[in-house]
Order: sequence, then C-alpha cells, then structure tokens
Amino acid sequence: MILPGSATQALAASLATETDQDLAGVSFDRFADGERRLQVEGIEAGTDVVVVASTVSDSAHVELLQLQDAAREAGASEVTTVLPYMGYARQDESFEPGQPVSARAVARALSTGTDRVVTVNPHERAVCGYFDVPATAVDAAGLLADPLPALADPVFLAPDAGACNLAETLRDAHGRGEVDQFAKTRHTDTDVDIEPSDTAVAGRDVVLVDDIVATGSTMSEAVGVLDNREAARVYVACVHPVLARDAYTRLRRAGVEAVYGTDTVERPVSQVSAAPAIAEVL
Ligand code: R5P
Repeated sequence: MILPGSATQALAASLATETDQDLAGVSFDRFADGERRLQVEGIEAGTDVVVVASTVSDSAHVELLQLQDAAREAGASEVTTVLPYMGYARQDESFEPGQPVSARAVARALSTGTDRVVTVNPHERAVCGYFDVPATAVDAAGLLADPLPALADPVFLAPDAGACNLAETLRDAHGRGEVDQFAKTRHTDTDVDIEPSDTAVAGRDVVLVDDIVATGSTMSEAVGVLDNREAARVYVACVHPVLARDAYTRLRRAGVEAVYGTDTVERPVSQVSAAPAIAEVL
C-alpha cells in the first residue's frame, strides 16, 4: 500500500502503478490554530505500507511524521519511508561552530516512525548513515536522458566535481558525448563562482547536470561562462528541480533552452518520473 504525502502525489501514484500496489486515500487539512490535520483511509492491519513524501518544506517534515504515525496506528506490519527529495540533506555537516548537523537531526526524527528509508540522489550518499534504520540511496540521473532532444556533439557538463558522476550517468544513458566538469566556489547560498575547464564547447550542445537546482545560482553562473564560449544550445538537467524563487526564469533569461527534472519535487519541469528507480529497491 502506497501512502502519499501532499507534495508528492504524482510520484506516489506512478510508484503505485510501477509496483502494482494500491494507493491509500489521505485528506490534508488544518485545525484553526494552523496545525496539520491528516486523515488516512484504506490501510488494513497487517499491511506493508510505503510512505512516499518529499520533505520540501518544514511543514512537509511534520506531515511525514504524521503519515508514518498514521500507518503505524492503522496496524501496518512494516513501514518503508520513501524520501524522494530529502530536505536539509545539504546541511550534512556543522559548517561553522554553533551550527547543527541538520541532515542528521531530521534523519533521526524520521527514523523513529519507519523500518527503513529509501531516498533518491541525496546530496551526499553519506547522509544515509545518519538514519537509525537501514537507508538506501537510488540514482535517478539516467532517467533524465529520456526527454533530451537530439544533441549535436554533446558535452555533459557538471558545474562542480560533486556532480561529475551524475553527468557520466546521464551521458551513458544518452549513449554518446563527452563528460566535463567546472569548479565551483560557494560564498553564500546565492553567491557562487564558477571556474571553467579548457574543453572546447563552440558549436556544441551542452547539457549542464546537477543533483539539485535550488536558487539557480550555480547553473546561471555556469551558463554565463558558456555564453562567452559560443556553445550551441544549453540545457539543464537535474534530479531535484527545487527551483526556488525566480530560478526558472533566471535560467531561461540566461539562455537555457529547457530545464529537465524528475518528479521528486513536483514542478512544471518534472517530466521524468523517478518511480522506476525507486521501484527497483522496494
Ligand atoms: C550543491 O553543491 C548542489 O550540488 C547544487 O549545486 C546546489 O544545491 C545548487 O544550488 P543553487 O541552485 O542554489 O546554486
């Protein structure tokens, strides 16, 4: 039985189809004081329940804890939590004295209501170690090859070293092309510098690949660098299209032809479902 979170309904439905399971009904409401009120239907005692909820906001974290508890309360025999997008995963260490390891804090909280966790392309695989229950990370980057158009002499370009394996995976799934990486220095969450490589991109199609596009700062800096090097067309592919604030229009204004993302975060660009990658480990 698949139990969907409010922000992850399309992916939950695709996963139900992919794994041939039923989809539980959930109504999402609020009490007068603003607290979340959740009502689950259709779970019978003894059922294995798969909660599917991306923690795209603080409120979504609370909702996920409620979903896990509702599954237990209904008598689920096993609760698996699928976290397609794990919020706070980028805060995977205490970067300055006095800061929490937020990824660990949320992982511990979510571990209390589940028997195991499956997540998709966490910022660092090591965050799986923060859960107190078995946690698995699946890679959905290859699925992004599906919507790509025909590409001329393509370069699959990672904006930093951390995204290089994703660029390789996508290039392999596409079938041909070069893989390259830039170097990134992050000053603040919206201020990054990109150092280009020597690879010639003039007249070639470029696919910029990353795990997350959040504010779009990383990608728009990378597009700016390419602009000076006469790349043909530039596309952006990411697993998690968070696209905060004006990130989408910022990328389009920078000259990006199209943005491709998966449904781990439901946005207009989420053309690709991560369900097949998740289904493999359920
Ligand atoms: C961090 O290193 C991640 O891989 C992404 O590059 C980052 O989350 C993108 O964030 P933004 O779009 O805000 O630059």
